[in-house]
Amino acid sequence: MPKILDGAAIAAAIKQEVAEEVKSLALKGIRPGLAAVLVGHTPASEIYVRSKVQTCADLGLFSELITPPDTVTTEEMLDLVAALNHRDDIDGILIQLPLPKQVDVKALLDAVAPDKDVDGFHPVNAGRLQAGRPALAPCTPAGVIEILKRSGIPIAGRHAVVVGRSDIVGKPVAMLLLHQNATVTICHSKTRDLAAVTREADILVAAIGRPGYITPEMVKPGATIIDVGINRLNTREEFDRFFKGNVRREAAFAKRGSTIVGDVDPRAFELAGAYTPVPGGVGPLTIAMLMANTVSAAKMRRGL
Ligand code: GUN
Repeated sequence: MPKILDGAAIAAAIKQEVAEEVKSLALKGIRPGLAAVLVGHTPASEIYVRSKVQTCADLGLFSELITPPDTVTTEEMLDLVAALNHRDDIDGILIQLPLPKQVDVKALLDAVAPDKDVDGFHPVNAGRLQAGRPALAPCTPAGVIEILKRSGIPIAGRHAVVVGRSDIVGKPVAMLLLHQNATVTICHSKTRDLAAVTREADILVAAIGRPGYITPEMVKPGATIIDVGINRLNTREEFDRFFKGNVRREAAFAKRGSTIVGDVDPRAFELAGAYTPVPGGVGPLTIAMLMANTVSAAKMRRGL
């Protein structure tokens, strides 16, 4: 039986450590603060951001939720970011994505002070990360490394295959795995004979954004599979493709009218030595690492 890597438990342990660090900073008169910017009313974003703000409260961080309307302009957003860059009570700035199409996302992310860029999306942080300098690393990739390390899965010398080359997950997770001395291959939509490459993986990271894309024949038996995908299945046909006959999922689907699947076909997990489930695998780490990054940013900004 493959081992299930419990992301929720690992996230809880990290949040506990962050809370302790927040307490010790409080003794020095420092309270790390996060500004969360949520534009408009995208339901998924609203849920994520509220959860981020709530977690700040739970761990003793200061937070401020800023909610511009979905008609906001790039200039207004740039002014907002400039103000947050200058505020001494704000250590981290999080601009929840996606943004309305009239907003120039790149210009905005580039405007965030790199030392307050707790999402790790600024090119300066991407550069620091790849140069092996202290950097705020993107939260989901950093969470992947925490799951592997805290689960005792060896990385050094292992072949890690990353499927997906996004700036937010694929590229940074590959870089972090490289820094842990893995042999890293990055695959993408143009990779020839993808299955032959993924079958070589000791650690397979799926970050493609397509439901159940990694099928059993793409997995080396005993591999560790990290599934970064979150894909919602809304129709019975989509549901049956992955979960037909799964009693627990049937109940959830009947209740909500949808369920989620990762980028890995659940049948592929059966071949793994260990894997992160969806939900409950990588997902919970994203907020935990955001909290950790905010505390790191607060310390770095004060030269601690
Ligand atoms: N939208 C989906 N995931 C994320 C994330 O990690 N950070 C931000 N800022 N927006 C997101």
